[in-house]
Amino acid sequence: MQRWVTTLTDMTETHVDVQASYPPPPEFSAQANATEALYDEAAEDRLGFWAAQAERLAWDTPFTEVLDWSEAPVAKWFVGGKLNVAYNCVDRHVEAGNGDRVAIHWEGEPVGDARDITYAQLKDEVCQAANTLTELGLTKGDRVAIYMPMVPEAIIAMLACARLGAMHSVVFAGFSASALKARIEDAEAKLVITTDGQFRRGKAAPLKAGVDEAIEALGDSSPVEHVLVVQRTGIEVPWTEGRDTWWHETVPNASTEHTPEAFDSEHPLFLLYTSGTTGKPKGIMHTSGGYLTQASYTHHYVFDIKPESDVYWCTADIGWVTGHTYIVYGPLSNGVTQVVYEGTPASPDEHRHFQVIEKYGVTVYYTAPTVVRTFMKWGRELAFEHDLSSLRLLGSVGEPINPEAWRWYRLVFGGDKTPVVDTWWQTETGGIMISPLPGVTHCKPGSAMRALPGISAKIVDDDGNELAPGTDHGEQASGYLVLDQPWPAMLRGIWGDPERFKETYWSRFAQQGWYFAGDGARYGKDGEIWVLGRIDDVMNVSGHRISTAEVESALVGHSGVAEAAVVGATDEHTGQGICAFVILKSHAKETSREQMVDELRAEVAREISPIAKPREIHVVPELPKTRSGKIMRRLLRDVAEGRELGDTSTLVDPSVFEAIRASK
Ligand code: WTA
Repeated sequence: MQRWVTTLTDMTETHVDVQASYPPPPEFSAQANATEALYDEAAEDRLGFWAAQAERLAWDTPFTEVLDWSEAPVAKWFVGGKLNVAYNCVDRHVEAGNGDRVAIHWEGEPVGDARDITYAQLKDEVCQAANTLTELGLTKGDRVAIYMPMVPEAIIAMLACARLGAMHSVVFAGFSASALKARIEDAEAKLVITTDGQFRRGKAAPLKAGVDEAIEALGDSSPVEHVLVVQRTGIEVPWTEGRDTWWHETVPNASTEHTPEAFDSEHPLFLLYTSGTTGKPKGIMHTSGGYLTQASYTHHYVFDIKPESDVYWCTADIGWVTGHTYIVYGPLSNGVTQVVYEGTPASPDEHRHFQVIEKYGVTVYYTAPTVVRTFMKWGRELAFEHDLSSLRLLGSVGEPINPEAWRWYRLVFGGDKTPVVDTWWQTETGGIMISPLPGVTHCKPGSAMRALPGISAKIVDDDGNELAPGTDHGEQASGYLVLDQPWPAMLRGIWGDPERFKETYWSRFAQQGWYFAGDGARYGKDGEIWVLGRIDDVMNVSGHRISTAEVESALVGHSGVAEAAVVGATDEHTGQGICAFVILKSHAKETSREQMVDELRAEVAREISPIAKPREIHVVPELPKTRSGKIMRRLLRDVAEGRELGDTSTLVDPSVFEAIRASK
């Protein structure tokens, strides 16, 4: 308990300026999908409202009950309903006569490597892939690990799994073989779909080799029966006859006919591993009907999607939840045209995103604050060389967007006129929860504003009392962000660990039955929500969730490390930066510090991913601990952020800080 309180006090120091609000442009409001009435409708009859949203989908068997919350905290939404998620994302658009509409403008990392895929073509390929997966022995309920860069086949593979009722577990292709192994093992994945390699800043890097390494490390207990490999780069790959199959030698030869089976609304759709407060990633479970309803609903209203005319672009990777909900399931269920880009904003140079926006006439652009800040660093002149006038709406996700970045984004990308929607949500929530509605909300830069119609969120104190609206100066208390009503896309559990599910999300406010999100927040003057960031041991680095415990466990995995403590320190560009403090074993002290730090950074990259490499590693003689032996992270954060130390009275030995400071 103590830790929450101290961290909350820390958060109030994060002073956020309350700025003037930005009303929606009248011409935008005039054509907007959402009006103020949407809030009223939802408030009048919340479940009736969700039932109406579920009608956005094609149900094979209609549902008989909207919500069954009798087994809380495991919800059942749209009880008795049956549907096929892939049919909803692909076939029905073709049947409605929109088969010739481009579903995906795919833009490869190498300039000129591009491909347009219509909904009719997507349907054929998803069917072929589904038939191939069936050939490989896959049936409903099986798990499939997808370890791929941003190629169309990754999306096709996800939809093929959904079509068969198999669960996909997408593992970000930037994760190491060791991280992949842990995820294959936990989910007992029968099949891995991957590519030979991936392009990174113009160079082909191996990927399939990592799959082989992971399977080898699993040894005799490996659940993997087959590896399906897409040829992306043409580099050489290790090959195991009988187990490995080329995509291009099988999928294109399969039939384009496949009858989708309708599955129960609560049939599992996917697993997505995310970092928690322990070293072991959690397999977040999502199911079909509720998830797809919220994906479709939020995408339609928050991004004001007009499927006939919009060109939507979400710059996320399918390895994260944003890629799942706002590249695959939201946009495709709504039948819109979207851009999918394989590379980074700087390949081959900093003009790339602007060129893609110009080339396809992108109208809605959804990215992360860290990307916006990177563009700010590069300078606005870059943008002024391009015609960005097609853009009519901008979105942000992944971390709090600082007001300066928000205004810069609107000015430079949006010509000082487009609405900007700052969307708060999580892997666990499945879809957007708190966000402006672009034709309705008077946005305050840096605030996600209010819960969407049908969603209920509160900011409460330790005892669960709701906080009062704030003042202009932002000096009021911050509290815990909770979700006090179930929502359709909510996670249904943690794979294989129901106790951890309850403990992690539902124990903090067990009495009230609320979901605690792990974020601190405060209300502004008008009751709008300002999310301040994580108050647990989860860090947010460039919008990537990384747990301190995961990095610590990678560091102590090195033979020279006796103990390690990791904290996230504020970072101007990445939101937070990873700072590690390590105590070396005596034999390692002979190695030079520089070499040791290099080795440790490499160890973290190998164990988790290069994205988890600490920004700083300090070799220290001791770590600050309480009498009960807990590491005082708050004090380490003070050190990492160069602040005066807070209260050190509970420390066993306050003098350790002299030594830690000296090591910086
Ligand atoms: C943070 C990403 C402030 C938050 C969709 C949350 C945000 C975590 C915002 C979830 C936002 C996401 N403003 N903070 N608009 N969006 N976050 O699971 O701390 O990768 O708990 O899901 O990101 O990260 P996740």
